[in-house]
Amino acid sequence: MKAIVVADENWAIGKDGGLLIHLPGDLKYFKEKTLGGVVVMGRATLESLPGGRPLPGRETIVLSRDAKLRERLAGQENVSVAGSVEELRDELVRRGMEDAAFAAGGEQVYRQLLPMCDEVYVTKIARKFEGADCFFPELSEENGWRLTWEDEPRQENGVSYRFTVYKRK
Ligand SMILES: NC(=O)c1ccc[n+]([C@@H]2O[C@H](COP(=O)([O-])OP(=O)(O)OC[C@H]3O[C@@H](n4cnc5c(N)ncnc54)[C@H](OP(=O)(O)O)[C@@H]3O)[C@@H](O)[C@H]2O)c1
Repeated sequence: MKAIVVADENWAIGKDGGLLIHLPGDLKYFKEKTLGGVVVMGRATLESLPGGRPLPGRETIVLSRDAKLRERLAGQENVSVAGSVEELRDELVRRGMEDAAFAAGGEQVYRQLLPMCDEVYVTKIARKFEGADCFFPELSEENGWRLTWEDEPRQENGVSYRFTVYKRK
């Protein structure tokens, strides 16, 4: 599995149930990377999307223990619910997607799925946001990750950010 995340210099990823900043270029990058594949997200992240609906053009597996969510999403195309990490793993194996699926947040889901990931696409924002309440686990040489690629910085919405890739050592 891979993970994809946009984080600031403190590895902050969210605030008040939403993202830290609107970066259209990053949303486009997320779309390019995940289109046609499988994204895994927590129930809170699903609810943060427009209309609480999964993103079009890819399969979404939502992690949730909520039976009502399962009912609400039943019969909808391109979305299913896994009630545990074990159930998620079984589902990915069944689809032959255990290497290609993306963990797409939020914090709870990243923390549980990172041990299953060997590659992380990090969009790094060159800023420290005040009041952030969700974080990605820090990726560093000391905890077993190597920065293998980074793009040139780009500017948008008053911030500088760059696309990077980390691989497990
Ligand atoms: N910067 C980024 O790239 C990025 C990406 C995505 C999200 N985010 C941000 O992250 C924040 C949300 O993160 P979060 O940690 O609060 O929530 P989350 O990870 O999106 O969702 C948490 C929910 O997932 C379900 N869940 C978690 N572990 C589970 C397990 N093992 N089995 C079954 N269900 C499980 C539970 O749902 P139930 O309560 O329904 O059981 C739990 O309440 C938002 O601010 C969002 O904008 C940032």
